[in-house]
Amino acid sequence: MLKEMKDEDFIVSKTDLKGRIVYSNQIFMDMAEYTEDELLGKPHSIIRHPDMPKAVFRHLWNVIPTKQEIFAFVINKTKNNNDYWVYANVTATVDLNGKIVDYYSVRRKPNPKALAVIIPLYKKMLEVEKSSGVDASFKVLTDILAEKGVSYDELVISLQNQ
Ligand SMILES: Cc1cc2nc3c(=O)[nH]c(=O)nc-3n(C[C@H](O)[C@H](O)[C@H](O)COP(=O)(O)O)c2cc1C
Repeated sequence: MLKEMKDEDFIVSKTDLKGRIVYSNQIFMDMAEYTEDELLGKPHSIIRHPDMPKAVFRHLWNVIPTKQEIFAFVINKTKNNNDYWVYANVTATVDLNGKIVDYYSVRRKPNPKALAVIIPLYKKMLEVEKSSGVDASFKVLTDILAEKGVSYDELVISLQNQ
């Protein structure tokens, strides 16, 4: 079953530098259908959905150690095999010396108009990933950006805010 976030909800989690969950808010537990005990210490990929292209996560993990924030549309899988889409904003938290101490993700309900673009794009990326690998899948994305003359951030943010 496809679940929907409420307009006013924020799903929040925090991970260590390796992507293991160190904090989850109640809305995250409710949406993902896990208890806090089941989530804490687990890799965030516990809710990974097979429809997500690997190239999106590779991009995320390339960006966040540079302390730049990233926005991404992500579909997740719950404990009981339900699915839900989010619009995620992931940032690094730094200490006083500028050293990254953890990563923080806040998700809002995605704009359905954005998903109408993202769903076929991810489908295409996944197909290319299966036949030709992650680099080729990432190229599907960068080719679209080049064609539209926009950056990844510009595309994703404008899709959500249209
Ligand atoms: C703060 C933070 C939040 C994340 N949230 C999610 C998430 O909600 N769903 C997800 O599938 N991956 C999330 N990831 C990415 C995972 O760490 C992981 O890269 C992804 O699930 C792909 O897993 P895999 O590399 O084992 O295939 C998050 C990473 C960070 C740093």
